[in-house]
Amino acid sequence: MSSFLIRCAVISEQKELEALQLRASLTNTGDRDALLAHPDAIELPIDQIAAGAVFVSERNGEIVGFAALLPRPDGDVELDALFVDPDIRRCGVGRSLVDHCVQMVRAQGSAALCVIGNPYAFDFYTACGFTAVGTTATRFGPGLLMRKMV
Ligand SMILES: CC(C)(COP(=O)(O)OP(=O)(O)OC[C@H]1O[C@@H](n2cnc3c(N)ncnc32)[C@H](O)[C@@H]1OP(=O)(O)O)[C@@H](O)C(=O)NCCC(=O)NCCS
Repeated sequence: MSSFLIRCAVISEQKELEALQLRASLTNTGDRDALLAHPDAIELPIDQIAAGAVFVSERNGEIVGFAALLPRPDGDVELDALFVDPDIRRCGVGRSLVDHCVQMVRAQGSAALCVIGNPYAFDFYTACGFTAVGTTATRFGPGLLMRKMV
């Protein structure tokens, strides 16, 4: 298998990334109905891409996953999005995107990367070194807040 390249997303990729997000999210079977009822939940703001806070993983020129970061008011950084193409799961794409985000967070001097963990991704985040630190309100109900020191 050829290797993956991680780079900053560009604005012209917004729709492609939103389509990937939808494809990836629909594999979380319990989320399907809510997602199909609220398609506006799939949104990758152009500002976030323009800020250089969205990173794509590509293989042979094809985007296979992406991650997005947002600053948090407490000084930590939030992993605001992480999606991997369903056809290429368990190949290390998600973990390498987390590793890349950790390097970004470290470089900007923050102490930790946080994520509001989807229950379907709990084992993945645990494998990547995140631990549960509490719950937090989300649009669709309480979410599990997980944190990883960088
Ligand atoms: C969660 C997600 C990003 C993981 O991406 P991935 O590229 O398949 O993950 P990796 O291959 O890097 O997995 C790294 C490790 O995490 C764990 N892991 C990953 N997926 C797992 C699963 N479905 N069940 C149990 N453990 C899992 C494993 O320990 C894995 O290592 P291994 O394959 O050597 O056993 C991907 O499944 C996805 O896009 N899911 C849908 C969207 C989503 O829920 N995103 C999270 C939003 S909070």
